[in-house]
Amino acid sequence: MIHESDVAQFRSLLSARLGWVFDDNDVAQLGTVLRRRSETTGMDRSSYLARLTRVDWEDELSELARELTINETYFFRHGEQFRALGQTVLPDRIRERANQRVLRMLSVGCSSGEEAYTLAIMAREVQPDPGWIVSVLGLDASPAMIERALIARYSSWSLRETPDAIRQRWFHPRDSLYELEPAIRELVQFRQHNVAAEERVLWRADQYDVVFCRNLLMYLTSDVQATLIRRMTRSLVPGGYLFLGHTDSLGSRPEGLEPVHSHRTFYYRRATATVAPAPRMSQVPPPAPASPPRIPLTAPRPTAAAYERALTLLRDERFTDALGVLEHVASTQQEMLLLGVLLTQAGRFSDAETIGRRLLDTDGLYADAHHQLAVCLEGGGSTDGAISHYRLAAYLDPEFAMPRLRLGLLARRRGENRVAGIELDRALELLRQEREERIVLFGGGFGRIALTTLCRAELDACGVRR
Ligand SMILES: C[S@@+](CC[C@H](N)C(=O)[O-])C[C@H]1O[C@@H](n2cnc3c(N)ncnc32)[C@H](O)[C@@H]1O
Repeated sequence: MIHESDVAQFRSLLSARLGWVFDDNDVAQLGTVLRRRSETTGMDRSSYLARLTRVDWEDELSELARELTINETYFFRHGEQFRALGQTVLPDRIRERANQRVLRMLSVGCSSGEEAYTLAIMAREVQPDPGWIVSVLGLDASPAMIERALIARYSSWSLRETPDAIRQRWFHPRDSLYELEPAIRELVQFRQHNVAAEERVLWRADQYDVVFCRNLLMYLTSDVQATLIRRMTRSLVPGGYLFLGHTDSLGSRPEGLEPVHSHRTFYYRRATATVAPAPRMSQVPPPAPASPPRIPLTAPRPTAAAYERALTLLRDERFTDALGVLEHVASTQQEMLLLGVLLTQAGRFSDAETIGRRLLDTDGLYADAHHQLAVCLEGGGSTDGAISHYRLAAYLDPEFAMPRLRLGLLARRRGENRVAGIELDRALELLRQEREERIVLFGGGFGRIALTTLCRAELDACGVRR
C-alpha cells in the first residue's frame, strides 16, 4: 500500500532534483515507480525518500531518468528546422566564423543522439572546405540514452525522415541496422547532464553557434525552464541561434533573443547586446510572454462599426450577412482577419488562404493570422500545412488556447493520444482566460463552455498519461 503523502513527496523531490513537472494524472505512475525503486534498492519507502532528499545519489537519479523520461526522437526530426539550419543559419555562422573556421553546436536533451548527429551531418554538408573544425555536444540526463548515442547504430525507423542521399553518404547498413560513419561520429561528444543541476563550464558565455533544445522544456518546471533559457541564451555567441521544439515557446520577445521566421518555422537569434548572467534557480521569475507587434496592413479607416457589426453577425452565425458587411471594405489587419474567418466559414478556402498569407507577409509574428490560415488549410484538406501554422500560432502566443485545441483534436484523429493529451490539457487550462473575441472568431460557433466540455470529453477519450 502506497501513501498519497509518499507520492507527493516523491513528486516534489523529482521537481527539485530533475526539474520535472508532473500533473495529477501522473500520480498513479509515480506511485508504481516509487514502489519499484524502493523495493529494488532494498529500502522502505521513507528511507528511500530520505536518501533521495540528500544531494549525492546520482546513480538513483539516473535510474529515475531512465524510467520516467520520454525519449522519442529521430534523425532530421522537424525537417523544416534543419532546412533553416542548412540554408540560413549555418551559412550565416560560416560567414561570421570565416577567420576562426570553427563551428560549435549543442543539443540539450539529445536522447539517443539522433539530433546531435543530424547537426554534425548538416555542418559537414555545408562547410566550405574540410579545414573547418566542427564540434557538437549532446547532453541528456539518462545514461541509458547516452550509451545508445555512443553506439551510434540506428534502425531504419530512426532514419525515416533522412534524405536518401544523406543516408547513403553517412550511414552503412550493418546487421539490419544503420551504422553512422566515423567521420560524423568523431565530431560529436555526449555527456550525461541533468539540466536542473549547476554546471558552469557547460554554460560559459559566448561559446555555441547553435543550440537545439527541443521537446524538453515542456517537461520542466517554470523555474528550471527559465534558468535553462537564460543559460542557453548566454552561452550562444552573439548572433548565434537557438532552436526549440514546436510545443516549446518563449513568446515572441524573449530577453536577449530575436525571433527569426524562415522555412515555415521559428527560431531565435541571440541579439548582439550583452545578456545578463543567468540567475540561480531560486531567483528566477516565471517567463512572461509578450505579444507580437500588430502592424496595420494599411492606415486604419473609420470602419470600426463595420467590424463590430460583422463580428456580431458571426456570433449569431449569420455568416453570409457578415461577409456582405466586410467583403469589399476590409482593410485593417483586424478586418482582414475577420474576413479570412468568414471566407473559411463560407467554404471559400483559397480566398481565405490568400488573406491569411497576405496578413503574414506583413507581420509574420501575428499568431491569429497563423491560426486563421491553419483553419482554412485544414478546411481545404491540407492537414500538414494546418498543423505547422497551428504550431506557429501556439508558439508565438503561448496564451492562445484555440491552436492547442485544434492540434489536440488533429492528434486524436491520428491516434497520437499522448500528443493529444498534452495539447488538450493545455487548451483546457488556457480556455479559461481566452479572449471572448477569439472564441467568437475561432470557436466555430461554440462558446467557452461548449469548447471546455469538448476538451474534457476528448481528454477522457485519450485515456493516456498526461
Ligand atoms: C523527447 S526527448 C527529446 C529528444 C530530442 N531533443 C528531439 O527533440 O528529438 C527529451 C529528452 O530530454 C531528456 N531529459 C529529461 N529531463 C532532463 C533533464 N533534467 N536534464 C537533461 N535531459 C533531460 C530525456 O532523457 C529525453 O531523452
